[in-house]
Amino acid sequence: MQRSPLITIGLLLLIGLQPVPVRAETLKTPLNLPKPLTTQDFRPFDEARAKIGQQLFYDKILSGNRNIACATCHHHELASGDGLSLGIGEGGRGLGPERKPGAGQSAATRRIQRNAPALFNLGAKEFTVLFHDGRLSLDENDHKGFNSPAIEFIPDGLQSLLAAQAVFPLVSEVEMAGHADENEVAGARNRRIDYAWRIIEERIRNISSYADEFTAAFPDIKHRTDIKIHHIANALDDFMNSEWRTPQSAFDRYLRGEKTALNQQQLAGMQLFYGKASCFQCHSGTLQTDHKFYSLGLPQFGPGRTRQFDFKARDMGRINESDRREDAYRFRTPSLRNVSATAPYGHNGAYKNLRKMIEHHLNPQKALRQWTPEQLILPLFTKVSSGDFLIQQDKQEQQRLLRSIDITPVALQSYEIDALEAFLETLTDPYSLQGRLGVPPRVGSGLVEQSKLQQAHVIEK
Ligand code: HEC
Ligand code: HEC
Repeated sequence: MQRSPLITIGLLLLIGLQPVPVRAETLKTPLNLPKPLTTQDFRPFDEARAKIGQQLFYDKILSGNRNIACATCHHHELASGDGLSLGIGEGGRGLGPERKPGAGQSAATRRIQRNAPALFNLGAKEFTVLFHDGRLSLDENDHKGFNSPAIEFIPDGLQSLLAAQAVFPLVSEVEMAGHADENEVAGARNRRIDYAWRIIEERIRNISSYADEFTAAFPDIKHRTDIKIHHIANALDDFMNSEWRTPQSAFDRYLRGEKTALNQQQLAGMQLFYGKASCFQCHSGTLQTDHKFYSLGLPQFGPGRTRQFDFKARDMGRINESDRREDAYRFRTPSLRNVSATAPYGHNGAYKNLRKMIEHHLNPQKALRQWTPEQLILPLFTKVSSGDFLIQQDKQEQQRLLRSIDITPVALQSYEIDALEAFLETLTDPYSLQGRLGVPPRVGSGLVEQSKLQQAHVIEK
C-alpha cells in the first residue's frame, strides 16, 4: 500500500517530537566518584543512651516555657527539619506548614533567622564544623576541644561536636529558652550562659524515669544529682548519630557495585554532577559536601542574622564567625543526602522547589532577578511580615550580594537539569526518612511534641 507523502511527513515529525531518552555516555576518563557510606564512617554510639536521647529530643521539658522540643523544628515526619523556609520557635503553635506564631503574652516575637537543616548523617566522623556559618567547630587548640559561641563557658564532658551543638538551642531565646521575664531558664541565661544549663539539668534530675534511665546508662552517674548537662547532650548525640543514617540510598548501592541501581537518566545526571556541571567541586566526598563556605547569592528576606552594630535585616553568613571580608554572604556547603525530601533549600529556605535551587546555581544573577516570594514556605506572621522583604529594596545591599557570588555559571539544557534532579533523587534512603527508633511512644515529662499522625489519632478518639 502506497502511503501518502503527507502521512509520511506527519509520522517523521511525530518521531522527531518524541523525547529523546537521555542515555549515560560512555566516558573516556572514569568519573571521580566518592566511596559509598558505611558504618565505619560514623562514631560508635550506645543503645541505652540513644533511647534516652530519643525521648529528650521530643520532650518540651528542655525548653524554658516547656512549649517546644528539638523535634518541633527537626521532626521525623518532616525529614528531620520543619518543612518551612524560616520557622517559628518558642511561643509558636503547631507543626510544619501549619505552625503559627501563637497568641497573647506568650506568642513568638520573631521568626527564626535561618532554615532548620535536616540532621542526616551528622554522626559521621567527617563533620568537624556545624551550623550554616560554621560557628561551632572542633578545635585542637582549645582545652575543651571546641570553638563555640559559649567560649570558656561550654560544659565539660561533651563527647563530640554534635553533643556540643545540642546545648545551644536550649539557651537560644527565640528557639527554646524564651524571654528573661517569662521563666527561670531564660532569666539565668541572661546572667551567664551556663547558669541556664544548670536549671535544665535540675529539671531532668527531678523526673524519676529519667533519673533511673540515666543512672543505668552512664557509669559515672551514681545518684540523680550526678546528672549534668553534658550527659543530656551526650544522650542527644547518641540519638542523632544513630537515628538518621543513609547507607541504603540507590547511589550507595550503585557505588557498592549494584550496576542496575541507577537508570539511564540517573546515570546521565551522575555524569553531569561529577563532570560538566561541576557540582562535585563543592559537593564532594561521600556526603556531597566539602564542609567549606561559598556565596551563592540566595535572595534575602526575613529578619536576617545581624552582627553587632549592623541594623540591616541581612545575613552575612560566615563573616559573622571569621571576621574576614571575603567571607561575607558565604554559607557552608550542605550535604545532599535525602535532599529531595528536605525542602525548602538553602540557609534561609529561599527555594521550595529543588529544580529552582539547582537553576539558581547555574545562573545566580538571573535567578535573583526572577525570584518571587512564592518560592517560600513562610508561615503568616502579621507582627513581622511588613519587614520581611524590605532588604530587597536596598539597591546597595543587592549590589554587595551580587558581587559576593563565588559560583561560576554553567550552561545546561533543560533535559540535563532533569537528569541532575533525577540523580539527586538517588541520594535518598527511604529507610532513613523514618529514622531508626522513630518518634518515641512516651517522654519522661509527659510533655511530648506530638506527631501529626498521633494528633489525628487523638482527635479521632
Ligand atoms: C526553633 C527551631 C529549632 C529548635 C527548637 C531546635 N533547632 Fe536545631 N536548628 C535550627 C536552626 C534554624 C538551625 C540552623 C542554625 C544556624 O545554622 O545558624 C539548627 C541547627 C541544628 C543542628 C546543626 C546542623 C548542621 O548541619 O549544622 C543540629 C545538630 C540541631 N539543630 C539539633 C537540634 C537539637 C538537638 C535541638 C534540641 C536541643 C534543636 N536542634 C532544637 C532550628 C531549631
Ligand atoms: C561553589 C560551590 C558549589 C557548587 C559548584 C555547587 N554548589 Fe550546591 N550549594 C553550595 C552552597 C554553599 C550551598 C548552600 C548555600 C546557602 O545556603 O546559601 C549549596 C546548596 C545546594 C542545594 C540545597 C541543599 C539544601 O539542603 O539546602 C542543592 C540541592 C545543591 N546545592 C545542588 C547543587 C548542584 C546540583 C550543583 C551542580 C549544578 C551544585 N549544587 C554546585 C555550593 C555549591
